[in-house]
Amino acid sequence: MVSDLFKKFSQKNFSKSDLIELLHFDTNLLCAKADEIRKKYKGNAVHLRGLIEFTNICKNSCYYCGLRCENKKIDRYRLTDDEILVCVTNAINFGYRTVVLQGGEDLFYDADKICSLIKRIKKYDIALTLSIGERTYEEYKAFKEAGADRYLMRIETTDEKLYQKLHPNMDFENRKKCLYDLKKLGYETGSGCLVGLPNQTIDSLADDILFFKELNADMIGIGPFIPHPDTPLANANKDNFETALKVMAAVRITMPDINIPATTAMETLRENGRIIALNSGANVVMPNMTDTKYRKKYELYPNKICINDSPDKCINCIKSKINSIGRTISSSKGFRSDLD
Ligand code: 5AD
Ligand code: FES
Repeated sequence: MVSDLFKKFSQKNFSKSDLIELLHFDTNLLCAKADEIRKKYKGNAVHLRGLIEFTNICKNSCYYCGLRCENKKIDRYRLTDDEILVCVTNAINFGYRTVVLQGGEDLFYDADKICSLIKRIKKYDIALTLSIGERTYEEYKAFKEAGADRYLMRIETTDEKLYQKLHPNMDFENRKKCLYDLKKLGYETGSGCLVGLPNQTIDSLADDILFFKELNADMIGIGPFIPHPDTPLANANKDNFETALKVMAAVRITMPDINIPATTAMETLRENGRIIALNSGANVVMPNMTDTKYRKKYELYPNKICINDSPDKCINCIKSKINSIGRTISSSKGFRSDLD
């Protein structure tokens, strides 16, 4: 019975095979349950985080990502510290209480540069999330001491064989270690995975969710994989929206009190994909704060939304969509324990 299975999750007494059964459920049923749990544990407020894509330079060559270093077709950029600070003050003026600094793994920004940026940003009353990939424990420690509050790094997949295939010259164990280091250092730690990678199975998606639970991640972002034409996975052509939505709903059912973003990739695959996600367990949106002139260059996957739009258009657009489904915009910084 469906209700017996849900009961196992509410009593935190479930196995991997229960998770697999959950992932095979009817989508509407799963999403309705996730929505109910979101409402009970997180309320109706949606947290907005202003995303600043500050460098598209990356030393890695992930098979799925348009920013991979082998992709010679993109025009690379780096924002100066002053340009980043302008984005931050704009975000504050728009009412954001969190900014996310996201970039490729660009070692031009050494620990000193990142720390000095953090200190400049943290002069303002705003939460700061970093999303700059794998660094050493000492670097993470220095960023935390400089004032960073949160860190986002998806594990992408916990299928180790698949991970190694898709991430040449990277190491699955090290990525896991980074995430545990971040938790240990007191960051609110976000992770997540891609859904629909070639040869990824429901079994391995269940393992991903078990990993998030074991890590006790504070935020989990689930994105459908979207093939990028200038990558080795160009021809992997599948619409992964529904599976991603189901994994996201299953994460909400498994970890009721965490933050879950309605990801931009979902909106790329479906009109109003973020609203569908907000009605299926999500409680966070990360509107793009990057200046219009850089947006097209941060092409993780094709047809990314809003690449010709401006930060003020994006915030107004998403706010009105959020209000149209009877949800409110949070005025808090949106830590895991913040309820409004
Ligand atoms: N499709 C969907 N998401 C992607 N990302 C990178 N490339 C793609 C793609 N082709 C996601 C990764 C990364 C995040 C910043 O963007 O999961 O963690
Ligand atoms: Fe950018 Fe709607 S979120 S225009």
